[in-house]
Amino acid sequence: MPESGDKGRRRFLNFVLGAGSLTFLSAVTYPVLKYLTPPDTGAESGNETVSAGKVNDLALNSGKIVKFGNQPAIVIRRQDNEVKAFLAVCTHLGCTVQYMPADRVIWCACHNGKYDLNGINISGPPPRPLTPLKVNIQNDEIFISREA
Ligand code: FES
Repeated sequence: MPESGDKGRRRFLNFVLGAGSLTFLSAVTYPVLKYLTPPDTGAESGNETVSAGKVNDLALNSGKIVKFGNQPAIVIRRQDNEVKAFLAVCTHLGCTVQYMPADRVIWCACHNGKYDLNGINISGPPPRPLTPLKVNIQNDEIFISREA
């Protein structure tokens, strides 16, 4: 009789240990897999159109950063009223660029990289132009999307 009680206890302990181990593995594995899997934003597949606000809320010769999927985008209203947009990700090491109205350049503060208003790299370490985005203005609202 005492042996069967031991067997029952052992079986119960094995069950508890197995369930605990499984729970622990799930608790560790799920967040790691979730971290490694990129979120589905739509912008990655190139079919997302994002509103960047009203044209008249953006002064001439100014720019702003907007969220484009999981990346920042920079929208610039040039002095000649043309609106341009690029991914705001520096092509050197990926810092977020900003608009410098005094010099009329897109500037990366990380290593002093500069781009002109067509997104072309003009000085500093950036090896290639910024990724341009398509700008579509409807009823004074700016929509940006990936170029086809
Ligand atoms: S990351 Fe932009 S210049 Fe280096």
